[in-house]
Amino acid sequence: MSDTDTSAGLTVGQTVPLHLDSLAVGGEAVGRHEGMAVFAMWGCPGDEVEVEITEVAARFARGVVKRVVSPSPDRVEPKCPHFGECGGCQWQHISYPAQLRHKAALVREALTRIGRLPEVEVVETVGMERPWGYRGRTVYRAAGEGFAFGFTRHHSHDAVVPAQCPIQHPLAERVRAALADILPRVAGDPADRAAVYKLEVGASFADERAMALLVCEGRPEFVISAAKELMAEVPEVTGVCAARQRGPNAKRRSPAELVAGNPYLTEQLGEGRYRVSPDSFFQVNPRQGARLAALVEEWAGVKETDVVVDAYCGVGAFLLPLARRAKSAIGIESDESAIGDARANVRAWRRRNVKLYRGRVEHVLPRLAHREVQADIVVLDPPRKGCGAIVCEAAAKLGPRRILLVSCHPATLARDLRTLTDHGYAVRRLQPVDMFPHTWHVEAVALCERL
Ligand SMILES: C[S@@+](CC[C@H](N)C(=O)[O-])C[C@H]1O[C@@H](n2cnc3c(N)ncnc32)[C@H](O)[C@@H]1O
Repeated sequence: MSDTDTSAGLTVGQTVPLHLDSLAVGGEAVGRHEGMAVFAMWGCPGDEVEVEITEVAARFARGVVKRVVSPSPDRVEPKCPHFGECGGCQWQHISYPAQLRHKAALVREALTRIGRLPEVEVVETVGMERPWGYRGRTVYRAAGEGFAFGFTRHHSHDAVVPAQCPIQHPLAERVRAALADILPRVAGDPADRAAVYKLEVGASFADERAMALLVCEGRPEFVISAAKELMAEVPEVTGVCAARQRGPNAKRRSPAELVAGNPYLTEQLGEGRYRVSPDSFFQVNPRQGARLAALVEEWAGVKETDVVVDAYCGVGAFLLPLARRAKSAIGIESDESAIGDARANVRAWRRRNVKLYRGRVEHVLPRLAHREVQADIVVLDPPRKGCGAIVCEAAAKLGPRRILLVSCHPATLARDLRTLTDHGYAVRRLQPVDMFPHTWHVEAVALCERL
């Protein structure tokens, strides 16, 4: 993008007055300048603002709110003093009821525009009574100097180090503070300091236990003494692991290696308890995760003669409660750690009617369809990129009377629902659930029935 782009008379660096009227995926507020959409970070629908333009494309522009001329009635004071610089939250300046309204609107918009399904009714988002301290899994980033851990700065690789983060489990915050204190004592060498990149913490709401994992360049010696001191100082920490990563900004790290204690956490959704390893996916917000799981169970309406397939089954959080009601159940999961936990959870739940496949859903599900396996209920809970056409088609080929699609991205939800609709299913219900208060992220469950 060049500085001389002037679409709709806009230029990078220019400041324009704008009325903001909606919010978009990614968290920006949207207004129009001479008919052109302008996405403005840190805006709130209903605001009159001045926006500094940072990007001009052929059909839209981007900018940052520089001054609120007249605030929206939905504007509130952010709780965190680092809001606006920290990359964690995008919507702390918007009242919680308004956040919930706008999350449902994001889903509605995607269904209409991407899914071409304007007729689907999207009901109001299920929110939290107290939308703070909800995150049970966190990745902290090591700050440049010393051993402070924080969060990635908005649009940067640097870290912001808040004294306290209001959306984390308080126990995770205690682990962060304790390690910032312990590490300088056990790792004196400046090279050691530079070797620590990240701290991951899993904090269980079920039994107030935590697991800490240090992501480092190689495997520094001091990690062992750090682990011992951490477990002595914060007795709720029952395990410490380490993982290797090449450079601070690498996308992937090695699998977790146990340093001290026990690597597993026990997590709970409703009545169901699950073993979760450091590398396995588990719902970041287990309180809302319990509501999601209850909704999946209710809408699945499993009968005792049913065969259930839970693709993307993780450690079995949806699979096991459904298997309890079904004749038999199949779980599919590609991640080695999660499938190991799923096996352990199947044993702990004493379920003999569950078969687990380790593999990619896009390979396993078409194979099952090819073998003419029939299912009555299929649950799809893919990662953000969604299922894609191959998986949706294979799910439809199994002939289930219901397909439940759980999604954490409105665009891929809409695309996948379109594919299911094109393969003989109708979307009957759609419920957004707020798993990530104060961020733009929205989870949704869709119930599809065979026509
Ligand atoms: C959003 S999580 C859902 C897990 C589970 N439903 C839960 O609530 O705990 C998605 C899961 O799918 C797994 N996964 C991602 N891509 C996959 C693929 N192509 N095939 C199979 N599993 C996949 C991930 O490892 C993760 O466990």
